[in-house]
Amino acid sequence: MAKEIEGLIKSEEDVTAIVLSSYEKTSDPRLNEIMTSLTKHLHAFLLETRPTEEEYEMGLRWVASLGHHTDNANNEVVLAADVLGASTLIDLMNNNGGRGETMSALLGPFYRGGAPDCGVDDNIARSDQEGLPLFFSGRVIDLDGSSIAGASVDVWQASPVGLYENQDAGQDDFNLRGKFTSDAEGRYSFRSVRPSGYPVPTSGPVGDLLRAQNRKAFRPAHVHFIVSAPGRKTLITQVFSDTDEAMIGDVVFGAKEAIVGDFVSHQGPHPDYPGVEGEFFTCKFDFKLVEGTPTFPVPPISGKVED
Ligand code: BEZ
Ligand code: FE
Repeated sequence: MAKEIEGLIKSEEDVTAIVLSSYEKTSDPRLNEIMTSLTKHLHAFLLETRPTEEEYEMGLRWVASLGHHTDNANNEVVLAADVLGASTLIDLMNNNGGRGETMSALLGPFYRGGAPDCGVDDNIARSDQEGLPLFFSGRVIDLDGSSIAGASVDVWQASPVGLYENQDAGQDDFNLRGKFTSDAEGRYSFRSVRPSGYPVPTSGPVGDLLRAQNRKAFRPAHVHFIVSAPGRKTLITQVFSDTDEAMIGDVVFGAKEAIVGDFVSHQGPHPDYPGVEGEFFTCKFDFKLVEGTPTFPVPPISGKVED
């Protein structure tokens, strides 16, 4: 009969308490709270599902391959958090639109900093591409509807074939990306092409998981925005096209009722834009900002795929 030694592991029931006691000297109370809770939930999950060693190794390989599939043009770690619903949960807990501001949505893995500065009505479609013209406009306002002049409106979207410029060597650098500034009445406006829905990247470990779960990899058509102004909480959001039924079943759970835009179809010729002869779309969307401190996300990517 082995000697009883206090503090040594005797069975699986002892592991959680002994691991938690090793955290006792953590000086940062928030780190301690997070690590304690994470450890309790992780151990409870393992004790509940009782993975085999093969399953455990497969899981660890999956996590490692998230890193191997992350580079300057693709961020598989962000994508994994998105398809697990973690990003939307974090977003809703921190930005629920509760003060009347525009609701936020995921930043996603395709935001690049440094988009070109644009003027009123500039076209962000910099590459030749098929696609119906889109005229997008609105105002940046506060909770009372007063104009916010000089706000930055950073826009990015996928092309009509469903690829962001960073994913597609055929598109020019910064195609379908641009940064606008609201005028004295808070107005912004730009020209683009109607975005289409797209599958999230499926060539990496996230794609393997989606296939194993028989899930659709699709996101509904949308345009991304980061709207910021001095003294205002930065708004990171997406405006969804009301013409896209794939909003229900968004693989990353980003689509929300409050941020569906009215994409109105018109028949050309456009009165102000010679050359716009056939069908074109307009969308008007106002962004309401609350007071707060502007913050800026770290771009998950910094460049394009190589040719
Ligand atoms: C996006 O909207 O760009 C996006 C968001 C989450 C995962 C993949 C793409
Ligand atoms: Fe997107």
